[in-house]
Amino acid sequence: MDKRIGFIGAGNMAQTIINGLIRNYTGINEKIYISNRTRAKGESLRNKFNVNLCESNIELVKNCDIIFLCVKPDIYSFVLDEIKEYVNEHQLLISVIVGITLEDMGSHFLQPKKIIRTMPNVAVTVGEGMTAVTPNDRVEEEELNLAITLLSSIGKVDVIKESLMDVATSISGCSPAFVAMFVEALADGGVLQGMPRDKAYQYAAQTLIGTAKMILENEIHPGKLKDTVTSPGGVTIEGVSVLEKRGFRGIVIEAMEACGRKIKLLKK
Ligand SMILES: NC(=O)c1ccc[n+]([C@@H]2O[C@H](COP(=O)([O-])OP(=O)(O)OC[C@H]3O[C@@H](n4cnc5c(N)ncnc54)[C@H](OP(=O)(O)O)[C@@H]3O)[C@@H](O)[C@H]2O)c1
Repeated sequence: MDKRIGFIGAGNMAQTIINGLIRNYTGINEKIYISNRTRAKGESLRNKFNVNLCESNIELVKNCDIIFLCVKPDIYSFVLDEIKEYVNEHQLLISVIVGITLEDMGSHFLQPKKIIRTMPNVAVTVGEGMTAVTPNDRVEEEELNLAITLLSSIGKVDVIKESLMDVATSISGCSPAFVAMFVEALADGGVLQGMPRDKAYQYAAQTLIGTAKMILENEIHPGKLKDTVTSPGGVTIEGVSVLEKRGFRGIVIEAMEACGRKIKLLKK
């Protein structure tokens, strides 16, 4: 890795990505630069990861080839206005900021810049994230591949059209909350039938991991997996029948639609 990688905003997301990079690439810490609003937080991150701390966002831009924008959506505008004169046409900007489009970001610059918009989910913190990425037309294939390589250190990465970014936000950004509710409900069901709570969470969560791996790694269709587990007149089909009667799948789809509606509303 000969590129210098900067992070503007040294919060949770920046720390997660830096952690993933350091775990995967020995010596990459020397190539990492950070800048943050409060110095104390920046210093703490510098000490934790042994990375370079810049005095300002401008100093960071002057030093880096790739710049991750890791600030909150309400201040991204201020940050882009601050750095816009210093970003050149060779540098790659990678935004993790939810809801801010390539056009929004591009509009801050007088000349077109290379920008990649990403949407990581919370599971990046354990290296099992799902990150959607979409580049603007200035980004070369090699640069996109480099961004994918970097982001792969925190989970799976997929390139999608920007028009699908909001759907990606619902299906991977919001759904960890639904999945956690499902795990909690499974565990409650176990507790109801006498299993200690900590064991019930372990059984429910591990079952989720196993099921997901069967779908992703063995490429088993979810419907087929369900058919495999439900033997005729057996136990599991009793549970499936209750879930279907109560509209389990329909409710999940409706929840996704509700997230989609809210995302559109927030954009307006
Ligand atoms: N967390 C997630 O699961 C997640 C998932 C997907 C996308 N995202 C996106 O990731 C971005 C960052 O989220 P986060 O959870 O990492 O937030 P965060 O922990 O609050 O981090 C934001 C950082 O930006 C710093 N900052 C504020 N103003 C700044 C400025 N003018 N210049 C430089 N740094 C500045 C803050 O510093 P101080 O604390 O010192 O003010 C803070 O360290 C957001 O846009 C969010 O939409 C987050």
